[in-house]
Amino acid sequence: MKRDRLKVGVLASGRGSNLQAIIDAIEKGDINAEIVVVISDRSDAYALVRAQKHGIPRHHIDPKAFRNKEEYELAVVERVKGYEVRLVVLAGYMRLVTKVLINAFNGDIMNIHPALLPSFRGLHAQRQTIEYGVRYSGCTVHFVTEEVDGGPVITQAVVPVYDNDTEETLSERILEKEHIIYPEAVKLFAEGRLKRMGRRVFIL
Ligand code: GRF
Repeated sequence: MKRDRLKVGVLASGRGSNLQAIIDAIEKGDINAEIVVVISDRSDAYALVRAQKHGIPRHHIDPKAFRNKEEYELAVVERVKGYEVRLVVLAGYMRLVTKVLINAFNGDIMNIHPALLPSFRGLHAQRQTIEYGVRYSGCTVHFVTEEVDGGPVITQAVVPVYDNDTEETLSERILEKEHIIYPEAVKLFAEGRLKRMGRRVFIL
């Protein structure tokens, strides 16, 4: 059975290198999907420029224009829904999401975190990693739940941590892996191969 092209909406706050990796994989024909909209909470996010370069509709929605987090998120949901999005991808989106967004997409929201979850959740994961002194780290793609960086794990990749690593060198090594596993996770979703069972995700 041939599946329809998956419609993906991306939320991003910054440089958007993960967005770019997914765009590239789609343009190469690796993923049967289409990014139909990119939304940013920051007007200066380079992710918006990347979207423009690839002819993808893009919007800046300013959280300051709303009374609270829920109202802002409702506006995001409304905008994203307008593009008939089936999967929401958070790509360097620096805001905590609430159940408003999660419920609106039935939990079909992914995020990437620059550590091997459940280690080093939250901000500055690479700095936490170096300070703690582990020998290996990496990145994790997971479904988003209300628990920050605590949703079911879809896929992970591992990198070594060296004695002379700085936050920057480690981040760079991890980012290379992010650009591989995030498109892979979207591809698995697009192929209907991710089966969620409670905390676990099985790859069919
Ligand atoms: C990545 O390190 C990602 O793991 C984290 O935020 C960073 C986003 O980078 N969630 P980019 O905007 O995709 O380049």
